[in-house]
Amino acid sequence: MSFVDIANARYSCRNYDRNRIVERNILTSIIQSAQIAPSACNRQPWTFILIDDLCDASCREAVIESYNRPWVGSAPAFIVACGDHNQAWHRPADGKDHTDVDLSIAIEHICLAATDAGLGSCWICNFDKEKITKKLNIPSNIEPIAIIPIGYPIDNAPAKNRKELEQIIKWGKF
Ligand SMILES: Cc1cc2nc3c(=O)[nH]c(=O)nc-3n(C[C@H](O)[C@H](O)[C@H](O)COP(=O)(O)O)c2cc1C
Repeated sequence: MSFVDIANARYSCRNYDRNRIVERNILTSIIQSAQIAPSACNRQPWTFILIDDLCDASCREAVIESYNRPWVGSAPAFIVACGDHNQAWHRPADGKDHTDVDLSIAIEHICLAATDAGLGSCWICNFDKEKITKKLNIPSNIEPIAIIPIGYPIDNAPAKNRKELEQIIKWGKF
């Protein structure tokens, strides 16, 4: 697939084949796509926690409990993308912390790489941060930024609902 094909094919998958395991080498190759993502000042302020059925069952439970929606349990694997605010670049002029920017790029690389591998994915940010931090032993200086379920989809991509180009482009000045 071309880049445009992959970007179009990616969607927020909310129904996975629980019985079709995602091999660890595939999960690792997806993380390689995050590894090569750009980051401010190349600080790479990220760590990715990978959870599959070979991990202790409590890890999977931690994810499901921290984002308790019926569909989440259908995913055979999860990636918890974590950011380190102390490692990330802060813009000297105003101190703006770029952790979220860096993590967002890496996370989208993950989602696009998953699509390229025939896998579904979904950004999840509306989770219970305290719960997942505690249950996955995430150190206090590290922030879980997103949970990404990964698995073979059994739903279909819905039609894209997006603003028109005219609404989002301004040539010259705002
Ligand atoms: C930063 C971010 C946070 C999101 N958080 C959630 C979430 O907590 N739960 C969820 O079901 N979807 C979440 N989504 C998915 C969005 O709802 C979805 O990307 C959007 O509706 C567009 O649909 P699409 O991804 O299928 O193209 C999130 C997406 C982004 C980029």
